[in-house]
Amino acid sequence: MAEDNWALRGDLLDFTGEPAWADLQPPALRWRPAHWLLIRGSRIEAVQAEPPGPDWRRVDHAGRLILPGFIDTHVHGPQIDVLASYGTELLDWLENHTFPAEARYADERVAQAGAERFIQALLQNGTTAALAFSTVHEGATHALFDAAHRQGMRLITGKVLMDRHVPDAVRDDVPGAEAASRRLISRWHGSGRCAYAVTPRFAPTSTQAQLAMAGALLREDPSLYLQTHVAENQAEVQWVRELFPGARSYLDVYGGNGLLHRRTVLAHGIWLNDQDRAQLRDVGATIAHSPTSNLFLGSGLFNWRLAREAGVRVAVASDVGGGTSLNLLRNLAAAYQVQALLGQRLTAWSALHAITLGAAQALDLDHEIGRLEPGATADITVWDWSADPVVAHRLSLARSLHERVFAWMTLGDERLLRSVMVAGQERLLRQRAV
Ligand code: GUN
Ligand code: ZN
Repeated sequence: MAEDNWALRGDLLDFTGEPAWADLQPPALRWRPAHWLLIRGSRIEAVQAEPPGPDWRRVDHAGRLILPGFIDTHVHGPQIDVLASYGTELLDWLENHTFPAEARYADERVAQAGAERFIQALLQNGTTAALAFSTVHEGATHALFDAAHRQGMRLITGKVLMDRHVPDAVRDDVPGAEAASRRLISRWHGSGRCAYAVTPRFAPTSTQAQLAMAGALLREDPSLYLQTHVAENQAEVQWVRELFPGARSYLDVYGGNGLLHRRTVLAHGIWLNDQDRAQLRDVGATIAHSPTSNLFLGSGLFNWRLAREAGVRVAVASDVGGGTSLNLLRNLAAAYQVQALLGQRLTAWSALHAITLGAAQALDLDHEIGRLEPGATADITVWDWSADPVVAHRLSLARSLHERVFAWMTLGDERLLRSVMVAGQERLLRQRAV
């Protein structure tokens, strides 16, 4: 028996395209209960209703949900140190909590331990791929890549660029930042499943010269990603208006420096206008909607339906440590509540699509991750439906698949996770849900 041929049985749920807004029975939903998922080496080889032959090692998860590994399109590795910091909105939160915490990552032992803790925490939450911020430090960024690389994980990250309006301990300068970025790109971009994201923190903390340098890196190699923040908080938007009086809008500061392309992911985008949305649609960039962060920092309510109607790609992200959980189910529950406050309804299908296939498409990686089909890399999660009698009873009363999956998504969290596979390797196995 070949050691690495696995066959998992469970209720398979994934998507073949984007579900229409508010459609409870979208054709793009693929629901295959009691199916076998056959994994050879690092890839999915087949999906079938019949049991496989004797050369497959069978793992029977009958009655459990099997989903593609979750994809977090915006998260800060070092910010697990500032989760749930009390009392501030964005700009004070950065100054009082976040910059001091990130400064500690200058110490490579702190950075290595933090990177390990973060990567393990992603896996324990069912997240098998991420687009993440590191800190300003080159060493800490190496440590983050290295920790993911050892797990065979799909990680996209980059050294944060910030050369003004930050404390000395976390400030770089244009020549130093460019040299460090280039070294990291040549070491990690395309190494295993790692890729590099040019990472200006946000417009207020980079000079015009630094933003132009970031744009030059992207022009040289368009396979690089670009991640940043945009229009998250009203005081921040006002500050950008003062710092860049010639720009049409906050988003246009990035556009004017060549930072908006197909592989750009912008966190938040709460306070954009119609022209901004049209610009994002035209370049194919993505908004990483981060609902627990937006609620926790009091930033505002992101109008997902409006973005969608304008043709903008939207994924859902944790934005830890502004966000309060690495678990993307908790973030989906919050996403539903944000839309409810806007008088709109988010289906479980749109929500789950945004952390699987939709996120994979945002990262230009849908050939590799985000779906359960032959040829895809076997990044897979297995979930219990419930871990307590109240939830089990509630689910038993569901009258439709959507009702059941929506209740699961809203009430569930990492305690339901039973197994995680990364490129066909088991990275987490729990005997019982706790
Ligand atoms: N804007 C600039 N930096 C940050 C950050 O670290 N978190 C969030 N939520 N917004 C930002
Ligand atoms: Zn962020």
